Amino acid sequence: MSTYHKVYYKKAQELEEVEDNSIALVITSPPYPMIEMWDEVFSLQNEEIKAALEVGDGILAFEKMHNELDIVWKELYRILISGGIICINIGDAIRTITKNFQLFPSHSKIINAFQKLGFQNLPEILWRKQTNAPNKFMGSGMLPPGAYVTLEHEYILIFRKGEKREFKTKILKENRRESAYFWEERNIWFSDVWDFKGISQGLNNKEIRKRSAAYPFELAFRLINMFSVRNDTILDPFLGTGTSSLAAMVSERNSIGYEIDENFKEIIKKRFLKVISFGNIYIKNRINSHISFITERINKKGPTKYTNENLNISVVTSQEKDLKINKLSSIQEINQEFIVKYKKIEKHPTPDNLE
Ligand SMILES: C[S@@+](CC[C@H](N)C(=O)[O-])C[C@H]1O[C@@H](n2cnc3c(N)ncnc32)[C@H](O)[C@@H]1O
Repeated sequence: MSTYHKVYYKKAQELEEVEDNSIALVITSPPYPMIEMWDEVFSLQNEEIKAALEVGDGILAFEKMHNELDIVWKELYRILISGGIICINIGDAIRTITKNFQLFPSHSKIINAFQKLGFQNLPEILWRKQTNAPNKFMGSGMLPPGAYVTLEHEYILIFRKGEKREFKTKILKENRRESAYFWEERNIWFSDVWDFKGISQGLNNKEIRKRSAAYPFELAFRLINMFSVRNDTILDPFLGTGTSSLAAMVSERNSIGYEIDENFKEIIKKRFLKVISFGNIYIKNRINSHISFITERINKKGPTKYTNENLNISVVTSQEKDLKINKLSSIQEINQEFIVKYKKIEKHPTPDNLE
């Protein structure tokens, strides 16, 4: 089995390389309107944004930045399959403009835009990003009413195009069952507050992560496994360092990414070419986590009713019986497309023979 991964270094307002109704899932994090690190990127896309910022008209700049994002959201409606899902990671901005401190609530703008386009709004996730910075409380300290609530969360907004996706044929049904996740993963992934403290980020260079505002690998991996099936094509219109494509590779999905800034080309390629070792460690840890969980459960409650034959491990529910996980075996770049190949995991995985 192989998956295919393509990156276009151009703006996402026109996704002309992507066919209508061809993408099962979009996961992305756009530049955040009114967060200073993205002022320049937005200003380059529309001069009126620059002008509004220069005269200190925050509300107008905010509006115009969202107008740019709205063009992308409209394209997403075109390229998504019926029943396809969109997950958007976005943080609101807090900013003092002409001495006036205020919140610029991007999440509400995006929800409005998607509802207008005809998407259905699904329950969202709050990504809790607690900090221990000593200066995290802003404003007038212990004197009311001029202190501000600390902003320590972002959103993962979730939308669907049309009705629930259907899997009608035997082959489609089988593929869906093979794309299942573990019961204990479901319990964490489908909770409405996520906190990634202590989970490896998959991007070692902290500085690059800060500069690029990359999201954790785990975030992309979860969303892809929650909302798509093996072999689907995932799109990220604001690819940055390529985290979404990497997670697609490790999840046996195809991917397409758009990124306006060619400076990311080198880092994306570097990360892609390391996916075999990184991905296989990730997969090994995933299966080992399941083994630890199920061993503890069996010790407490006795044997479970079901076994996953592919991996030869006990599972809690019958829905996990056909779940399949392959290891990555190679990555190759041919004609500006990355092709990832996979191989079967030997049965009886133990922490040792997963190597
Ligand atoms: C928040 S970052 C995405 C980070 C990414 N999720 C990761 O893990 O690295 C947003 C990215 O969108 C890119 N960008 C901004 N405007 C764009 C546009 N109109 N089309 C395509 N990419 C754009 C920026 O250069 C930046 O890399």
